[in-house]
Amino acid sequence: MTTNFKKDVLEGLTATKKSLNSKYFYDDIGSRIFQEIMEMPEYYLTNCEFDIFQKQSAEFFNTLNFKTHFNLIELGAGDGLKTAELIRYLTTQNISFTYTPIDISKEANDLLCAKLKLEFPLLNIAPKTGDYFEILKDLQNNQSPSLLLFIGSNIGNYLADKADELFRLFNQSMKVGDKLLVGVDLKKDPAIIHKAYFDPHGITKRFNLNLLTRINRELGGNFNCNNFDFYVNYESSTGEVRSYIKSLTKQVVEISALDLQIEFEAGESIWTELSKKYDLEELEALLKKAGFKTIQHFTDSQQYFSDSIFEKR
Ligand code: AVJ
Repeated sequence: MTTNFKKDVLEGLTATKKSLNSKYFYDDIGSRIFQEIMEMPEYYLTNCEFDIFQKQSAEFFNTLNFKTHFNLIELGAGDGLKTAELIRYLTTQNISFTYTPIDISKEANDLLCAKLKLEFPLLNIAPKTGDYFEILKDLQNNQSPSLLLFIGSNIGNYLADKADELFRLFNQSMKVGDKLLVGVDLKKDPAIIHKAYFDPHGITKRFNLNLLTRINRELGGNFNCNNFDFYVNYESSTGEVRSYIKSLTKQVVEISALDLQIEFEAGESIWTELSKKYDLEELEALLKKAGFKTIQHFTDSQQYFSDSIFEKR
C-alpha cells in the first residue's frame, strides 16, 4: 500500500501536468473529513441517495426478481448508512439474504458490523476486507444470485477508460441474471454542483490539503499548506468536476523518501480529483458496452441522483 503511494506520488508530481490520485485522500484523517463533507447541506449527494434508499427499497427488491436466498455485496461499504435502509426493508419482510460489505479499511468494516448487529441481531453478515476483485472471484461459484452495490457516486472518480474496465471486471465475476446497482450523480444546475465541491466552509479544501499533510508524514515531505490553495472547475458539457491544489507562490518542496525536489510556479496546480456527473443515456451506454442490460433507474424527486439497476446478460 505505502509503496504504491510512494510510486504514484513520484509519478504524479514529476509529470509535466502534476496530479495526485484522489484514492489517497482516505487515510484515517481524510476519512473523517469525508464524513464532515457528507454532513454539509451543500453536498446534496448523500441526502439524495439516502432518500432513494429510504423510500424505494421495496421497489429495488421487486425489480431484482430474486426468488431465493441472495447475496447483497457492497463494494466500498464505508459507514453503510444508505444500505442500512435496504437491509431494514429486507429484514422486516423476512427476505433471506447474506450481506457482504467489502472495504479496504478493516476498522470501518468492523465498526459497520458492530452497528448493524445492534439493530439487526439476526442479520447474516460476512464482511470482507481487501481488494474488490479477489473477493468477487468467488461469486461465480456461489449458488445464490447476487446483487452488487456500487453506490455513492464512486464511479465518478474514474476516467472513461477506467470506468469501462471496472464495469467489465464486475461483469466477468458475475453470473447471468445477477444484478448491479450503481449510484450516480446526475448533471444539473452547474452552480449547485460547483458549490457541493467548493464549499463555503472550507471543508473540501481541508480534505484536499490533507493529501499534502499525508505526504509530509508518510514520505517526509515539507509542504507548507499555507502556501497552497484549492479550486474547483465544473465543465457542464462533459459533466466533469475537476478539483485542484494550487501553489500560491513560486516554491520548491522536498520529499525525502523520494529523494526529490519539486518546483512549483506561482499559480501552478496539482489535479487531485475527478467527480464525473452522468446523464442516464451515457450511463446506460457505458454499462451496455460492459455487458449489462438496463433494468430500471430510481431517482430522487429532484432528479439529482440515480440508483440504477443493471443485469448481467
Ligand atoms: C466519495 C468519490 C463520491 O467525488 O463526490 C466529495 C468524494 N470529493 N467531495 C465525490 C468527494 C470532494 C466523493 N466520492
